[in-house]
Amino acid sequence: MAEELKISTGDKTEKYSLLYEQIKAVTKHEEDIIANMANTSAMIHATFSFLWTGFYRVVKDTLVLGPFQGPLACTRIAYGRGVCGTAWKEKSTITVPDVNKFPGHIACSNASKSEIVVPIFDASGCVTAILDIDSEEIGKFDETDKLWLEKIGKLLMH
Ligand code: SME
Repeated sequence: MAEELKISTGDKTEKYSLLYEQIKAVTKHEEDIIANMANTSAMIHATFSFLWTGFYRVVKDTLVLGPFQGPLACTRIAYGRGVCGTAWKEKSTITVPDVNKFPGHIACSNASKSEIVVPIFDASGCVTAILDIDSEEIGKFDETDKLWLEKIGKLLMH
């Protein structure tokens, strides 16, 4: 069924609130994680016009590029490497206000200035994927982004 994304003209919380309900509606009857990642990245990206919005999946001992929106990205990231590999290792969201100040940051695009990486867990608490969002603005992501993106991540667990 074709759907048209609605984008709130309100503040960030209102935008996330409407986005969340739509991601929930689009993903709840689909069990294929790649299909859900594809629509989720497109919906987040269109709502906020970030530089890069996408997923890396855990495949054995590496993160492998999944569905995304934005410029070309590196295809594999090792455990513990960069912001993505560190979020996987630490099993927690990492918000980076200035990527130049994060030791080991992997620069897929020179235009990226700040970043947030949210792990996605399976039912047993293992990280199965990460959601990575990059912005051209320094300090773009705050606790509101963390809260909502973690809620969105939970929608992708089933
Ligand atoms: N900057 C990330 C790499 C992925 S790209 O930004 C899409 C990192 O340091 O893990």
